[in-house]
Amino acid sequence: VVILSKIVYDYIEKYVRSLLNERGDCLRRMEKYAEENHIPIIQPEVANFLSFIIQTKGVKNILEVGTAIGYSAMVMKNAAADCRIVTIDRDPGMVEKARENIKSEGLEKDIKVVCGDAVEVLSSMEDNFDLIFLDGAKGQYLEFFPHCHRMLKNGGLIFADNVLFRGMVANNELLIRRKITIVKRMRKYLEFMSKNSDYVTTVLPLGDGVAVSLKKGGRSYEEA
Ligand SMILES: C[S@@+](CC[C@H](N)C(=O)[O-])C[C@H]1O[C@@H](n2cnc3c(N)ncnc32)[C@H](O)[C@@H]1O
Repeated sequence: VVILSKIVYDYIEKYVRSLLNERGDCLRRMEKYAEENHIPIIQPEVANFLSFIIQTKGVKNILEVGTAIGYSAMVMKNAAADCRIVTIDRDPGMVEKARENIKSEGLEKDIKVVCGDAVEVLSSMEDNFDLIFLDGAKGQYLEFFPHCHRMLKNGGLIFADNVLFRGMVANNELLIRRKITIVKRMRKYLEFMSKNSDYVTTVLPLGDGVAVSLKKGGRSYEEA
């Protein structure tokens, strides 16, 4: 049995979560479904931070890699009623469930779910986004990057989840064999983004670790 480490003390996590507002019925139903079916969805404090950023920056156009059942897409939509989201997942079962959840809330016009491998889908896309949320295959963020860079407006953000991967990214002693490749790739992503002069990146020990990267070159994406 592998005991997976958490990067935040339980008592801190519990306290921070106690401060968060109640989620609506739909999100709570989706959380229950995710838990019962062992589907990983964003952690409450990460959802809260994502919503905070969306509202702070007045984000309108969002791209998400990794839809699962549409939980984080719904969180983002709740943060800004006027935003539009394109979200990609390669698992047809997940896509079906996400579309069902989105339709039940009447949001299918604003949240478009695309079924396919993200690298392929991204290569053929030409839209522009204010925020790109990376929550798909954890070892592929660097592969997604050139497409994200191309489609991200100046002043826009790339928000990547699980970047500290239960602490394994920061400490080899926590590293388990079957995660070596993912962890190495995640380190490469973080090093690349941190050194990339087109971006300012901050890595936060929130949830399982998030990296938020601001694309420089414009005061705001509205002017870009
Ligand atoms: C952690 S879950 C996403 C959770 C979701 N963002 C949420 O918080 O509600 C990751 C999802 O990414 C999808 N995925 C992984 N690699 C992918 C890829 N290369 N292209 C498209 N989807 C991918 C998986 O099928 C899975 O449903």
